[in-house]
Amino acid sequence: MKPKIAILATGGTIAGVIDDAITTTGYKAGALNIEVLLDAVPQIKEFATIVGYQISNIDSSNMSNEIQLNLAKKINKLLTKDEIDAVVVTHGTDTMEETAYFLNLTIKSDKPVILTGAMRPSTAMSADGSKNLYNAVALAINEKSKNKGVMIVMNDRILSARAAVKTHTLNLDAFSSPNFGDLGYILDGKVYFYNTIEKLHTKNTPFDIDHLEDLPKVDILYTYSNDGSGVAAKALFENGTQALVIAGSGSGNIHENQKNILKELMKKNLIVAISSRIQVGEVILSKEDEDFGFICAQNLNPQKARILLMLALTKTKNSKIIQNFFQTY
Ligand code: SIN
Repeated sequence: MKPKIAILATGGTIAGVIDDAITTTGYKAGALNIEVLLDAVPQIKEFATIVGYQISNIDSSNMSNEIQLNLAKKINKLLTKDEIDAVVVTHGTDTMEETAYFLNLTIKSDKPVILTGAMRPSTAMSADGSKNLYNAVALAINEKSKNKGVMIVMNDRILSARAAVKTHTLNLDAFSSPNFGDLGYILDGKVYFYNTIEKLHTKNTPFDIDHLEDLPKVDILYTYSNDGSGVAAKALFENGTQALVIAGSGSGNIHENQKNILKELMKKNLIVAISSRIQVGEVILSKEDEDFGFICAQNLNPQKARILLMLALTKTKNSKIIQNFFQTY
């Protein structure tokens, strides 16, 4: 019997359309529905039975906590069924790494969960969506894909959700794993794994979203020269933000005026995690900042640090426990 794969569509360029085969920008993302996406890749039905669901149909720059929660709940529900062997999610590439990491922390199953998308709209003469979807289904049915955490397949690369970063705005080869390396490679549906990542995921995290309707409000502040007024930090805090991720300079540095304002807000229970605006490498905190309660995001980029911090806040406000989450996941 063929494996049964659920394909959940959320929108993105893979479902994008423009009335001209040459143009690869300015198209409408999230225009085609799941049936059209599946009809474009009839080959996948030769090795899998497919069931399709439309979760949303958006440009992923409009991704929300609500859609991410609904998606995770739907996947958890599907994967409890014996007849579903794996899930593939089609997603816009702009925030794919955030949704992938969210699912990596909240899916409670060993079965494969793979995200894929496209850099070129479905109407382009060089559209990449169909081959990416074919590869994602081939990866989903591979025995070795179990218990690897959530994965992304783009441009023949197999990337861990923990490691994957969108590193090019337009190129077909838009994703890489700057800190860890990719998990493997997939060539015409043939899977080659060559790497593992030790960070815990899926069943080995404490995050249970099945009964959550919303997530704690966490925002990101970007660091730059002359950045010392603290206006944005104060405004966000007054607007209900529970925690901030700072995209610090270098190894996680912050203008001293800004840091003093953050410290004042932390005395009023704001949680602050420090990441970096640099793509590769670790953030290092001084002993003094650690003792004050700043959390070190280590090598998680700001947008993924926000995801972990939101989930952490569903469990605790204790900065030492949250720091431990950043070390573990
Ligand atoms: C989006 O993220 O929805 C648009 C861009 C893309 O999918 O490549």
